Amino acid sequence: MNAKLENILNETLNLLNYDYQTKVVKSNIEGIDFQCDDAFKLAKLYHKAPFIIAEEIVNKIKENKNYQNYFKEVIVSKPGFINIIVSDKLINNSLIELMKKDKLGTTKENETIVLDYGGPNVAKPLHVGHLRTAIIGQAINNILKFKGNKTISDVHLGDIGAQMGQVIYGIIHDFPNIKYEDIQFDLNYLNITYPKISSLCKENESVHKECAEITKKLQEGDPNYHILWKKICDLSISDIKKIYDYLDVHFDYWYGESDAYKQFPEMMSYLDKESCVKIDNGAKVIEVNEDTDKIDIPPCIIQKSDGAYLYATSDLGTIWQRKKDFNPDEIIYIVDARQSMHFTQIFRAAKKTHIYEGKLFHYGNGTVNGKDNKPFKTRTGGALKLEDLIKEVKEEFINLRPENKSMDEEDLDKIVNAIIKFADLQNDLTRNYIFDIKKFSEVNGKTGPYILYTYLRINKLLSESDSNLSENIYNEIDRTLRLKLLEVSSVVNEASKERKPHIIASYLYDLSVIANNFYQCNHMSNLEGQIKNDYNIILKYNNLIIKTLLELLGIYIPKTM
Ligand code: ARG
Repeated sequence: MNAKLENILNETLNLLNYDYQTKVVKSNIEGIDFQCDDAFKLAKLYHKAPFIIAEEIVNKIKENKNYQNYFKEVIVSKPGFINIIVSDKLINNSLIELMKKDKLGTTKENETIVLDYGGPNVAKPLHVGHLRTAIIGQAINNILKFKGNKTISDVHLGDIGAQMGQVIYGIIHDFPNIKYEDIQFDLNYLNITYPKISSLCKENESVHKECAEITKKLQEGDPNYHILWKKICDLSISDIKKIYDYLDVHFDYWYGESDAYKQFPEMMSYLDKESCVKIDNGAKVIEVNEDTDKIDIPPCIIQKSDGAYLYATSDLGTIWQRKKDFNPDEIIYIVDARQSMHFTQIFRAAKKTHIYEGKLFHYGNGTVNGKDNKPFKTRTGGALKLEDLIKEVKEEFINLRPENKSMDEEDLDKIVNAIIKFADLQNDLTRNYIFDIKKFSEVNGKTGPYILYTYLRINKLLSESDSNLSENIYNEIDRTLRLKLLEVSSVVNEASKERKPHIIASYLYDLSVIANNFYQCNHMSNLEGQIKNDYNIILKYNNLIIKTLLELLGIYIPKTM
């Protein structure tokens, strides 16, 4: 719609000898559909009053032979705005055109994009802090794929950090005199051991040292520790997969930081050969500061003086591997915003050393906060396990209405997903938000259940339509709904370009409010003939949009609710 209006306006500008490409935007003024505010820019360029220019444009547009087809009215408003009310004919023709297109009329993209999200740490349970990166990352993946890109998702497990040395230390002490291959333990054991040894390390310097020594040996490939490491990974990863499956979060690759270690010999010798590294107090570093920096960007340390590798090294090694295996146009990271310095360093290091010259982006997500507006904690002060959060949400929803108790388990899980994901995805990913289980479970308000309910209510009203959409628009709310449906392509295009799923979530909510309003004002059961046929077509398309967009957000529709 915007493009059509822009075309006709640009044609007009051309006729008036203005050399300018204009933009049309949706208007917030009651009764006005669109507006063009470019008379102000033209006024500066051509040294005229904006009002005069706006009038010239409007007068000229009215001479266009297509005027009636496009516009109901075009009005100049002081001091130089051009307000547009489009014709019903334009709305309907655009809608008919849109409904014929696949992929909701979106433009096609064609890049190879690696997505790095999730990033859980092996041997530690998933907690609420891991929720956002998984949900947002999966939504961005779905959106980019929908737009035609080839996406490659990699979970980038934290599988070789300090926690591994600590858990191995715990195992060795709990199972003395048993051959490593014969030691048996379960997930529960892991969940107890990590926090136990981690706090022991804080109290006891010698334990801390011993754990660090184990970690270092493990990183160097010690075959004995490797046996225990493998057992820990298998247990922990299958637990992580269970929760990700529940949330419909999926990865093409389950590589870990440990896999990056396999790239180090090749990468380090390249860096040495190209003289990319400096020795600083015995450590190998890559200088990454730039003259224009307003804050200090410290060098990227890739090997400590004792030979140990770091988080940055594994990220650089992973970029090395991704370039080699996938040769992507772009690598994007959906990781907690508090890691932004780390990503600035490794991105610069990758570019400077020519390890990778494609696009690199870090989309830094905000935190999920409790009522105190601090990162969510349990009553006892620990991080809330994701598994427990899911349980709490489920309980909250079941207790909301008596009939929820007898709900189908599969439907219930879909609703739980909708509650959690819509709560998250309605916020700009960079912002923190307060997780209020009660509020997000309600069927009213800006919630997942509200959107699902809207879809299901409308679905019940639908029947077969026997003819095409007519030329009529029947009332104001009908017109508002049709105009809203027409926004869908640009909404998805924008969400994809910006990598911001909340653009889709906000649209879904606005559309649902209008659609609810529509069927409350227009009782389908009392209607027949052409109007019923037309409403049926409109509402069917409305529901196609809701379903498709919800799926992009990782939300699926239950049979009933
Ligand atoms: N495991 C890391 C953490 O918990 C997050 C990993 C993010 N991805 C990356 N490529 N660094 O902090």
